[in-house]
Amino acid sequence: MSSLRAPSNYSEEPPRHPSLVVNSQEPFNAEPPRSALIASYVTPVDLFYKRNHGPIPVLDDIESYYMRYCGLVEKPLELSMADIRKLSKHTVTATLQCAGNRRTAMSKVKPVKGVGCDVSAIGSAIWGGAKLADVLELVGISKSTSVSSPLGGNHVEFVSVDMCKEEKGGPYKSSIPLLQATNLDAEVILAYEMNGQPLNRDHGYPLRVIVPGVIGARSVKWLSSINIIENECQGFFTQRDYKMFPPTVNWENIDWSTRRPQMDFPVQSVICSLEEENTVEPGKIVVHGYAVSGGGRGIERVDVSFDGGKTWEEAIRYQKSTEVPYVADDTSSGDKWAWVLFKAEADVSHTTEIVTKAVDIAGNVQPENVGVIWNLRGILNTSWHRVRVEVEDPNF
Ligand code: MTE
Repeated sequence: MSSLRAPSNYSEEPPRHPSLVVNSQEPFNAEPPRSALIASYVTPVDLFYKRNHGPIPVLDDIESYYMRYCGLVEKPLELSMADIRKLSKHTVTATLQCAGNRRTAMSKVKPVKGVGCDVSAIGSAIWGGAKLADVLELVGISKSTSVSSPLGGNHVEFVSVDMCKEEKGGPYKSSIPLLQATNLDAEVILAYEMNGQPLNRDHGYPLRVIVPGVIGARSVKWLSSINIIENECQGFFTQRDYKMFPPTVNWENIDWSTRRPQMDFPVQSVICSLEEENTVEPGKIVVHGYAVSGGGRGIERVDVSFDGGKTWEEAIRYQKSTEVPYVADDTSSGDKWAWVLFKAEADVSHTTEIVTKAVDIAGNVQPENVGVIWNLRGILNTSWHRVRVEVEDPNF
């Protein structure tokens, strides 16, 4: 048996950075202060948000870990970490965003179900590991763009070992379409490294999947098996959670079967250098933040308003570092899965609201108000981000 095990209680949790803002202790859900997100282009591991649904699994002996391949495959397989490391290593810089990022703001419109999150359930990391498409080839599924595997599999299911109450004590699991898994351009990887270091326990040690451009829920941590299946995963987190309903749906009339599991996340931008309420002296104010879109759609533009949304100016974007401005025609960047950081400045002389909205390369824009995208699970709050700035009267 693989030695990756799930504790039944929270007595074996790993140490965590003291500056994380804890949204729930058991299971541990936390995000960094928003200012930490703009301090560097790549988010440090210890400050990266943590989103869990049960106690963190323990692996005492890496030598006895293996991942099982099963389901609709010609030759089921067990792979050790050494086997996975033998495949060519691929690194991808990708932003992982929880679908519940900015849920707290959505719940102010009308209550929603789910762990509260401010604006930092998001981070960018350099993930290193084996391409899922390479691993699938080992079980006889070629890197073609075919929808079905030879034995009729259409989806790739990732199964963990953690014990989640939503799964009645069973493990977290989810799936992606086979087409996405075998497509080299989708850059789905089985990651064993985060920012050049082995994954730590909170982020999925020893192995997790990273599905770039897609809500974090599909990037299953602590992998124990990968199943090739005919229909998408029937687990709770695919069928009864992380689906986007219209504002008319409530807990009495909800029919989960009417919606697809959410995959790509929509265009998003957030101001991180200011809190929701701020007091400043009159004069120049510089705002910094992040902007990102799902599905590999880069950010075309970030607009910032210093007068509550009446007039706008375009922000300067940064990619790869907080110093080097982004060049729109730089085709060498390869960072289509990761955020841009942005900066804008203006003189403010009286109390105002500073607002940001981003536009992605497909021309998608963030919605103006959270009310129009309100949904009972509180996911995908991508409304314009507004912060209030009270300007102190210099004569007092
Ligand atoms: N994988 C397992 N096994 N268990 C989980 O609770 N949470 C998912 C995903 N993978 C989860 C999981 C969700 S909802 C998110 S947003 C991301 O992991 C968070 O990844 P992170 O904690 O590394 O930031």
